[in-house]
Amino acid sequence: MTEMEEILAKAGIVEVAKDDGESFWNRYYLERFHKMATRLRCFRQLNKRIFSQVVRVLNAQILEMGCGSGRNVANILKHMQVSENGGRIYAIDISQDSLDLAREELGNPGNVVFQKDNMRNLSFEDESFDVVFDVFAGCYMPHRGWKLGVKEAFRIMKPGGYGYFLYFIHGKKFSSCFRSQVPIELVLHPVGLFWALHLKLIRGLNVWDKFIEKGDVVYPTHDEFVGLVEQNGGLIKIAEKTFLDTCVFVKAQKQ
Ligand SMILES: C[S@@+](CC[C@H](N)C(=O)[O-])C[C@H]1O[C@@H](n2cnc3c(N)ncnc32)[C@H](O)[C@@H]1O
Repeated sequence: MTEMEEILAKAGIVEVAKDDGESFWNRYYLERFHKMATRLRCFRQLNKRIFSQVVRVLNAQILEMGCGSGRNVANILKHMQVSENGGRIYAIDISQDSLDLAREELGNPGNVVFQKDNMRNLSFEDESFDVVFDVFAGCYMPHRGWKLGVKEAFRIMKPGGYGYFLYFIHGKKFSSCFRSQVPIELVLHPVGLFWALHLKLIRGLNVWDKFIEKGDVVYPTHDEFVGLVEQNGGLIKIAEKTFLDTCVFVKAQKQ
């Protein structure tokens, strides 16, 4: 057994490259990421930054690709005032377990449709959405699946619609960057850090690093990602490095 296989076997995790990561995400995300992502200070700040840039569109048809446990859906509902203006959010994910949890956590709101779907090949018609969110989702698709994910995002977006993307970028190791952040989290938000450690954040990140080392998942570079958005018809409004410089946040409008 290789070191990689041993780590995964101990963690009870299947490989991300199998079944497009569905069984991996059912376990990994639900056990570790979703609870941390709402508790750590650095995640909270990142969310604030993203949602401060979101343009409010009346009666919007909104798609969140890879919604996970729905933490962004709650923010989208609030920022886009969906319940007041009659819009609708389609929250899709490859993991049925995540969708079930999201529905439960959010109390199954009437204007949100949770649907199992694959970002590589979405089941929606061309030009059906005003706004598309892809937050920490497409970048994880094995074998550079994000190329298809971005293509799909712009296919289903209406001309003039907005896309918001948060992607990890190639060459940056979030686990190392996060370790250097630990003293800051400790001083400024010890409760969040306690939760992260309790939920074995570092171990989870180490598992992920193995997928990167093995080459199952290869993030785009900053320029590659911006270029891909442009190639697919996106006019870049913002492309900034963020989250300890490990990510790029892109806001783009379909031409
Ligand atoms: C790190 S989580 C992020 C979840 C959420 N966007 C957030 O910010 O909390 C990545 C999500 O992408 C989903 N995902 C991965 N590959 C996918 C695919 N091919 N199609 C749809 N969802 C996918 C996973 O199931 C998981 O819920």
